Amino acid sequence: MALERTFSILKPDVVRRNLIGKVLAKFEEAGLRPVALKKIHMTRAQAEGFYAVHKDRPFFGELVEQMIASPVVVQVLEGENAILKNREVMGATNPANAADGTIRKEFALSIGENSVHGSDAPETAAEEIKFFFTDAEIVG
Ligand code: CMP
Repeated sequence: MALERTFSILKPDVVRRNLIGKVLAKFEEAGLRPVALKKIHMTRAQAEGFYAVHKDRPFFGELVEQMIASPVVVQVLEGENAILKNREVMGATNPANAADGTIRKEFALSIGENSVHGSDAPETAAEEIKFFFTDAEIVG
């Protein structure tokens, strides 16, 4: 097993409903450690840049509007196999398909307001961490 870092967002639906602590507990209980964490209100340019890979998808406009509607928490999670573990803890993108005990099963409102984002591979994790954090902000 390898010690990895991955990128995670607690989306507006979590922050708005005062669920930051409950969602962070799910990560910590799974052995994932926040090594950088901040609350931000994403700009439109940030949201469009971060989700650029989805720019031709029909849900892109709605996704950007939802991500900039109110603040989010962005974080870097560290742990053994953190990228895969984070995705297991999050559950399927569509909460209707998410397994019991996952964050999306427990907290997500819809496929758009699905509570959390997590990197899907080592390359995207590195890019997404860099998008929001400097090296100096990450304290392992
Ligand atoms: P996320 O992991 O943040 O990555 C892209 C987001 O687009 C996804 O979670 C969902 O919140 C949102 N989204 C909205 N509709 C869809 C869809 N039909 N398929 C995939 N993602 C969607």
